[in-house]
Amino acid sequence: MERRKNRRKNGDEEDASSVDSIRIIRSPSSPMSPEKKGKAYGGSNFFLASKGAMLLVVGIMIGYVAVPMALVELNVKDIHNRSSYGNDGAPRMRSLQSDEDSIQTRVAEDQKLLSTQSLPTITSPQIMHTPILSDHRRKKIVVTGGAGFVGSHLVDKLMMEGHEVTVLDNFFTGQKKNIAHWLQHPNFSLVVHDVTEPIQLEVQEIYHLACPASPPHYQFNPVKTIKTSTMGTLNMLGLAKRVGAKILLTSTSEIYGDPQVHPQKEDYWGNVNTVGPRSCYDEGKRVAETMMYSYKNQNHVDIRVARIFNTFGPRMHPNDGRVVSNFIIQSLQNKPITIYGEGEQTRSFQFVDDLVNGLHALMNGPYDGPVNLGNPDEYLVRDFAVLIKKLTNSASEIQKLEQTKDDPSRRKPDISLAKEKLGWSPKVKVEDGLQKTIAYFQGVLDQAGEIIPTGPGASKPQN
Ligand SMILES: NC(=O)c1ccc[n+]([C@@H]2O[C@H](COP(=O)([O-])OP(=O)(O)OC[C@H]3O[C@@H](n4cnc5c(N)ncnc54)[C@H](O)[C@@H]3O)[C@@H](O)[C@H]2O)c1
Repeated sequence: MERRKNRRKNGDEEDASSVDSIRIIRSPSSPMSPEKKGKAYGGSNFFLASKGAMLLVVGIMIGYVAVPMALVELNVKDIHNRSSYGNDGAPRMRSLQSDEDSIQTRVAEDQKLLSTQSLPTITSPQIMHTPILSDHRRKKIVVTGGAGFVGSHLVDKLMMEGHEVTVLDNFFTGQKKNIAHWLQHPNFSLVVHDVTEPIQLEVQEIYHLACPASPPHYQFNPVKTIKTSTMGTLNMLGLAKRVGAKILLTSTSEIYGDPQVHPQKEDYWGNVNTVGPRSCYDEGKRVAETMMYSYKNQNHVDIRVARIFNTFGPRMHPNDGRVVSNFIIQSLQNKPITIYGEGEQTRSFQFVDDLVNGLHALMNGPYDGPVNLGNPDEYLVRDFAVLIKKLTNSASEIQKLEQTKDDPSRRKPDISLAKEKLGWSPKVKVEDGLQKTIAYFQGVLDQAGEIIPTGPGASKPQN
């Protein structure tokens, strides 16, 4: 019994020891209570470490996997939005079409606007509107010398009437800025062309102005001036004859030379030196007039001849050395106002808008004899210098230079024929025209900084 008890006791002990041994064997793989785990790995430190590890793993997952995937997804969506295909892979036709439609609508609106007006530029800031004429009323008109001073104002008038205007110009004295405001207009064309060469065009009216007009310019290359007046006029008359166009020549008061009658009427034949420094211009214009009437009489070309007297206004060439531009440029810069001799010559000055209206009335009326276009207001040149000095508030001195050769002593148009045949007479007062011209040259000076006034030696190239 005693042994059994002991055995049982021992067995119990054996059992107990075997349970413990089993527990020990199981311990690495079996779940343990937190308590035991704590004991096995150092308690609460283990818990914190494993939590940190978890967070680290989650962070890595977000940073390296979730965010890049989200970005890729966003990008793909964006590309899909901008591409011509939708998410379903079908072509995105409707939105592309509406984009094109709105661009086309805008372009059409802009073109419509630009086809009915000029573009403001520094030289011509005011917007000029052009009407839309029916096809049978819209004329095809050529203006030779249309980039020059008078020509560019004439182009403005014809464009504002709604006609199709082509400018032929070799830019000898013309300036692109004078016509830049029309370059985008569908009714306007510019052909860089020398009128001494023939040209083929379809045209109904030709205003033939191409010719340098100021003494320094036309004396710069006298042979070319003669060619321009003679060959140029022949070419334009040939064109007029071929296509049945009406043609107007801008002749000049210079065909009267140093006149012996005063004021000058159209039936005065003039007093011109054939071999002086001004002859290339004066005689060139005289023979051009003769050509006009020869083509009229022999070939029935419908012709008009305007004899233009001294004209001034905005867009005059700053270096053309003419009285008005020179005096204004000198006064605005407080440089000496230079007059030739005692300044006792007389000149009559018309504002360019009046001249343009006269040219237009002549072309559109039936009268085909030569017609004077000028302002009979006559000034002594020295008085004119004083007037410009006053209008510009200038501190300039008036400086007398040597009298130039063949300078006409008196110049004043008789415009009774223009009044009778065209119903035309100048409307702009000289002082009002001068104010506009002074404002224009002030603008040129503000842009250019300084303009060297053109003196008597300016007609020859400087060595
Ligand atoms: N402005 C005046 O006071 C005045 C007086 C009398 C006559 N005119 C006449 O009026 C017309 C215009 O004078 P403006 O004052 O405008 O002169 P401008 O010099 O400003 O204009 C003349 C234009 O003709 C162009 N031209 C010259 N030679 C050419 C050629 N061979 N081929 C093509 N183009 C050429 C010039 O580049 C310029 O654009 C001229 O025929 C001139 O004789 C003018």
